[in-house]
Amino acid sequence: MKTHQQEASPASSVSYLKLRLSFSPQLHLVNFFSHLLLFGSGLLIGITLALCLPYSSPLSFQIQQQLPSTSPSPPRSVSVNQTNGMATLVNRHGLRDLLRADDQKAMHDMNEQELLWRASLVPKIKEVPFKHKPRVAFMFLTKGPVLLAPLWERFFKGNKGLYSIYVHSHPCFNETLPQSSVFYGRRIPSKEVKWGELSMIEAERRLLANALLDFRNQRFVLLSESCIPLFNFSTIYNYLLKSTKNFVEAYDSPSAVGRGRYTPRMRPLVKLSQWRKGSQWFQIDRALAVSIVSDRQYFPVFKKYCRPPCYSDEHYLPTLVSIKFWRRNSNRTLTWVDWSKGGAHPSKFIRTDVTVEFLKRLRHGGRTCEYNGHTTNACHLFARKFTPHALSRLLRFAPKLMHFN
Ligand SMILES: *[C@@H]1O[C@H](CO)[C@@H](O)[C@H](O)[C@H]1NC(C)=O
Ligand SMILES: *[C@@H]1O[C@H](CO)[C@@H](O)[C@H](O)[C@H]1NC(C)=O
Ligand SMILES: *[C@@H]1O[C@H](CO)[C@@H](O)[C@H](O)[C@H]1NC(C)=O
Ligand SMILES: *[C@@H]1O[C@H](CO)[C@@H](O)[C@H](O)[C@H]1NC(C)=O
Repeated sequence: MKTHQQEASPASSVSYLKLRLSFSPQLHLVNFFSHLLLFGSGLLIGITLALCLPYSSPLSFQIQQQLPSTSPSPPRSVSVNQTNGMATLVNRHGLRDLLRADDQKAMHDMNEQELLWRASLVPKIKEVPFKHKPRVAFMFLTKGPVLLAPLWERFFKGNKGLYSIYVHSHPCFNETLPQSSVFYGRRIPSKEVKWGELSMIEAERRLLANALLDFRNQRFVLLSESCIPLFNFSTIYNYLLKSTKNFVEAYDSPSAVGRGRYTPRMRPLVKLSQWRKGSQWFQIDRALAVSIVSDRQYFPVFKKYCRPPCYSDEHYLPTLVSIKFWRRNSNRTLTWVDWSKGGAHPSKFIRTDVTVEFLKRLRHGGRTCEYNGHTTNACHLFARKFTPHALSRLLRFAPKLMHFN
C-alpha cells in the first residue's frame, strides 16, 4: 500500500502544479497548498478503494487500468492455438517456425546496423539438425518492378524450395503483386540508390545481409531488372552449387577508367598494384557473402576516397576480393553484357534483337572458360540488358531453347 501512495502523489502534484500555474499564475501560495492537500488525500482514498475493492465502482476501474497488471500473463509474442484441444505455438518460436517466417516475408524491422550484425553470425556446428536442400538466393537490385518478371516466373516454376528471392527497389516504389507471384512478399527494407554512387554498394550489402538471414541460402546471385537467365533452373543451380570458385569479375586495367580511378590516398590499405576493376554482377558463396557484409576495413576507405568519377560498384568488390579472397575467385562473372559499343552504359536489347541464334550465341558463344579445373563453353548463365519490349519474344523462344520445365 505504502509504495503505491508514495508513487502516486508526486506525479499527480506535478501535473496539478502545472495546471494551476498555467491557468492562474497570480494565485496565492497558501490557497494553492490547501488545494494540493485536498486533492492529494482525495487521490489516496481513491487508490485505496480501488485496490481494496476491485471492480466496485467506475472510479476504481479507471485507476485499475492505469496501474501495471500484476497477474501473470503469457509473453505477448507467443500465442497458443487451441483448436481441436491441441495447443500449438503459432508465432516464431522454434527453428522451423523461423524458416517458415523467412519463406513468407522478406520484410523485417531491423535497422541497418542490427541487420549487418545478425547477417555476420556464423554457426560453429556445421551439421544442420534437420533435412533441407541448399538454396540459391536470387537478389534483384531494381529501381521499380522486375521488368522481365514473367520470364523469371517461368524459370522458377517447379523449383520451390531450391531458391529464395530478394528484391531491393526504390523505397517509394509501390506495386501490388498477386500472392501467386514468386516475387510476392520478397521486397526487403530498401533505401534510394544513385547510379555510380556508394549507395549502390550499400544496397548490394543490404541484399546480401537479408539473404544471409536464411541459412539455407548457399549461393548468392546479384541481378538487375534487365537480366535474363540463359539456362534452365536445374542447370544454373548445379553450375553454381558445384562450383569450387566464386564469380567476382576482377582485372587490372591500365586505362583512365581502370588505374586512372585509383588515388594514392587509399594507401597503405590499397596499393595501385592491388587496384582492380570488374562488373558488379556477381555470383558468390556463403563464406564470401559473410565476409562482404562484415567488412569494416575496406568499405570506409572506399566510402571516403572512391567517389565519382571513381565508381565503387566497379572497384570495391573486385579490389577487396582480389586482395583478401583471390584464392577462391575465378576473376570472371557469369553475367554476359555487351560493352562493344563503348560509352558509360552497355548495349540494350530490344524486341528485334532477340532471335534464337542470338540466344544460342549467348549460351555457348564460341568462347571457352575454366570451370572446376576443366574447360567449358558455358561461360555465362545470365545476360543483360533486356528491355520490357523484348519480353514477348523471350517468352516465345526461351522456354523451348533453354529447356524450362
Ligand atoms: C489453429 O489450428 C487449426 C488446425 O490445426 C488451423 O486450421 C488454424 O488455422 C490455426 N489457427 C491459427 C491462428 O493458426
Ligand atoms: C502502397 O499502396 C497501397 C494501396 O494502394 C497503400 O495502402 C500503401 O500505403 C502504399 N505503400 C506505400 C509505401 O506507399
Ligand atoms: C585472379 O586474380 C588474382 C590476382 O588479382 C590472381 O592471383 C589469381 O591467380 C587469379 N585467378 C584466376 C583463377 O585466374
Ligand atoms: C535443363 O536443361 C538441360 C539442357 O541444358 C536439360 O538436359 C535438362 O533436362 C533440363 N532440365 C529440366 C529439369 O528440364
